[in-house]
Amino acid sequence: MQLAVAPEVTEPAPSDARYVCACLRITERELLSTLSSANIRTLRDLRRTIGAGDGCTACHRTLQRYLDAG
Ligand code: FES
Repeated sequence: MQLAVAPEVTEPAPSDARYVCACLRITERELLSTLSSANIRTLRDLRRTIGAGDGCTACHRTLQRYLDAG
């Protein structure tokens, strides 16, 4: 069984934000803005639009929760 490894984050998120995708440094604010302004329905849409989830994939479950809530 292969264990997921948390992505290395070299810089902290700005104090008023948190990363929902550490690999691509996508903040929750940026994600919510994208979800409210673009026709984003799937994880694939998100990856194409802002790149979120296009690294280690550890954030996919979190990103899917945001998509499901929208
Ligand atoms: S945290 Fe690695 S792809 Fe999002």
